Amino acid sequence: MRRVTGDAGLSESASRLQAGGLVAFPTETVYGLGADARDPEAVAGIFRAKGRPSDNPLIVHVFDVASARELSSRWPVMAERLSRRFWPGPLTLVVPADPSIAEVARGGLDTVGIRCPDHPVALALLRLCQVPVAAPSANRSGRPSPTTAEAVLEDLGDVEGLVLDGGPAGVGVESTVVDVTGEHPVLLRPGGLGPEAIEAEIGPLAVPDGGAVPRAPGMKYRHYAPMLPVVLLRLAGQAAVGEIRGRFHPDDTGLVAPAEVLRALPEYRSVDLGPDADTAAARLFAGLRRLEREPGLCRIVAVWDDVRGRGLAVMNRLEKASGEADHGRI
Ligand code: TXA
Ligand code: MG
Repeated sequence: MRRVTGDAGLSESASRLQAGGLVAFPTETVYGLGADARDPEAVAGIFRAKGRPSDNPLIVHVFDVASARELSSRWPVMAERLSRRFWPGPLTLVVPADPSIAEVARGGLDTVGIRCPDHPVALALLRLCQVPVAAPSANRSGRPSPTTAEAVLEDLGDVEGLVLDGGPAGVGVESTVVDVTGEHPVLLRPGGLGPEAIEAEIGPLAVPDGGAVPRAPGMKYRHYAPMLPVVLLRLAGQAAVGEIRGRFHPDDTGLVAPAEVLRALPEYRSVDLGPDADTAAARLFAGLRRLEREPGLCRIVAVWDDVRGRGLAVMNRLEKASGEADHGRI
C-alpha cells in the first residue's frame, strides 16, 4: 500500500475507489479498508487482502441518510430515528439490502449494515467519489483493528492500494451494530456508541440468543487478538493489583490496565488505559499492538471491569482477544 495525504491524496483515493481499487481510510472509530460496494470484483479484493471468511459481511459507508435509504429495500422507522439522532457517528444499522449492493459484500445475506462515519476525511472521500464504500476494519483478519495509518501498513503493507492518512482515529473501537430489520432492535456488536444512548432513543435493545446461527456473522470468529495470549481479569483497584502480583512476573507479563491499577505496579511493562472508558477505547488496540512487540513477554494481562457506555465495547474486545467469548454471543 502507498500512503497518501491531504487534498491530492483525497482525490487520488476517490479515483482509485471509482476504478475498482482498494483504499484504506480513516474513520472516527478505526481505519477501514474500502472498495465500491456495488462491484463484486473490488469487494472480493477486500476479502483477499484481509484473509477474511467470505460469510462475514462488510459495513457500507455513506455520507448522509438519503444515500443510506437508497441502499436499503426498506428503511425501518427505527433506522430513520437512529440515523437522524446519531449520524454521523459510530453506529451501524442493519437493514434490508437493496440488490445493488454486491452479494459478496453482504456475505450472502439479504440485509446490509450501513453507517455514516463522523470523520472529516471519510466524509470528504465519500462525497467526492460518490460511491457506497464497503469497508471492514483495515487489519488482517483476527488482528486488533488499526487506529493509525502505520498500523494499517503493519498488517496490509504488501496489498495493492492506497492508505489515506488522516491521523489517529479518536474513538478507537469499532461502531456499535444494531439490527433494525425486526420488530425489536437487536444489539449485534457493542461499540463506540453506548447502548444506554440508543435505548434512550428507541427503548430496550435485545441481545442475540447465541443460537446456532450468529446474528452478526463476524462475532463467531476469534478477533482483535495480538500475537501474544491475552488473560482477562475482570477486576479493579487493589483486587487487581493483588492478583497480578501473586500470579504474574514482570519479566514475562505485560499489562493493559486502568491508570489506578498501574500506579501500584511500576515494575511491569504496560499500556495505560487512563481514567475512563472513552480513554481506554482510544488506547486499547494501539496498546495491544505495542505490547506484542516488547521483547521477552509471554502474555498480556488485561484488567477491565466497566461495562457502561463505551466500556461495554472495551470488555467485549478484551473477551474476544482473550478467546473466552462464547461463539455468537456478545
Ligand atoms: O467502526 C466500524 O464499524 C469499522 C469502520 C471501518 O467503519 N468497520 C468495521 O467493520 O468494524 P468489520 O467488518 O470489522 O465489522 C463488521 C461487523 C461484523 O461483525 C459483521 O459480521 C457485522 O458487522 N455485520 C455487517 N453486516 C451485517 C449484516 N448484514 N448482518 C449482520 N451483521 C453484519
Ligand atoms: Mg473488524
